[in-house]
Amino acid sequence: FLSLAADDPDFMGREIAEQPETVERILSELAPRVSTGDLWRELGLPHFRRVAVLGCGTSLNAGRIIAHAFGAFGAIVNTAVTASEAGAVVLDAETLVIAASQSGETADVLRALDELQTGRGRVLALTNSMHSTLARRADGVLNCSAGPEIGVAATKTFVAQVVTGVCLALSAMVARGTILRAQADAIVDDLRRTPDRLENAIAVSRQWVPDIVESVRDAQGFLFLGRGAGVVYAAEGALKLKELTYRWAEHYPAGELKHGPLALVEEGTPVVVIESADGRLSANVAEVRSRGGRVISIGGPGSSIPVVDGHPEAFARSGRVSQGRGGNTFAACGPLESVVPMQILARELAIALGRDVDKPRNLAKSVTVE
Ligand code: AGP
Repeated sequence: FLSLAADDPDFMGREIAEQPETVERILSELAPRVSTGDLWRELGLPHFRRVAVLGCGTSLNAGRIIAHAFGAFGAIVNTAVTASEAGAVVLDAETLVIAASQSGETADVLRALDELQTGRGRVLALTNSMHSTLARRADGVLNCSAGPEIGVAATKTFVAQVVTGVCLALSAMVARGTILRAQADAIVDDLRRTPDRLENAIAVSRQWVPDIVESVRDAQGFLFLGRGAGVVYAAEGALKLKELTYRWAEHYPAGELKHGPLALVEEGTPVVVIESADGRLSANVAEVRSRGGRVISIGGPGSSIPVVDGHPEAFARSGRVSQGRGGNTFAACGPLESVVPMQILARELAIALGRDVDKPRNLAKSVTVE
């Protein structure tokens, strides 16, 4: 098992290890301007009623969390748009369009901006490259400040996009008076615990993942399950596993399992489960186990990888805000730290299988063709 440290032989290992300090840096820059509303105001963008976040791949997954955050903090109608399918999307003139792209050069994203009939002055770029084509074309630019990412698989830029985008959502809701400054302060305080949570996730993953890799080494297909925001992280985990190991991986909302994917589960099928605080995944886990599936559970009691302090109440403590009448809640970033064991699982399994983790076959860091 390769240690995750500054002297790792691959960029991906180093970039995973950098995630806590990346978030620390982002928050020290952004946090003072969140609960004042200034982070949003300084962008100089017009008032909006709805939000659409667009992107591809990992940036799209980050976009889904950001879109959720606008809904959770301010009941803003929101959607995440697959950039390559944006031609079919109808937006009204009061929609803020957030184009999320690490490179800022992704052709599908740039084309989407041509195709979407957006209102004037309403495109915000969320990018890791302030000199990119996207940054030049947008009406406002927010730097996700992850620093250079060399590994083709996005890791630290995903975490940076989520944290930066959630700070933006919170700041915008303060600026429009939808959320009180004191409430925003409480959420920012919780966000400041993110680096520690990521550090903890790296430590426990280093301890637990090697044995798991041995047990799933020969598996040809994987399922990733979650509920709520956990579904998006399941999607990101499945994407990492596919691109690094060349093994099939599908993600589903856990409730969908019995509507079809359960037929895939047989003796030894690895099923990665992102636990939720409400315990509603236990029935799904039981269904998988009774078919002989190999459950890799992240975050709950008795988890294979007890990332979130080892018990689900930790999710409940993690900056939840009321989502309105139904009494549902949504953690600021959802179970963000759950992505760490999935990144490490994908990397370690890829190394065990002899893959090049920095340059997976058939893929490029920046996809400049449609
Ligand atoms: C992520 O691991 C992938 N390499 C890929 O999905 C990537 O996120 C996608 O191509 C979007 O790139 P961008 O963020 O530079 O637009």
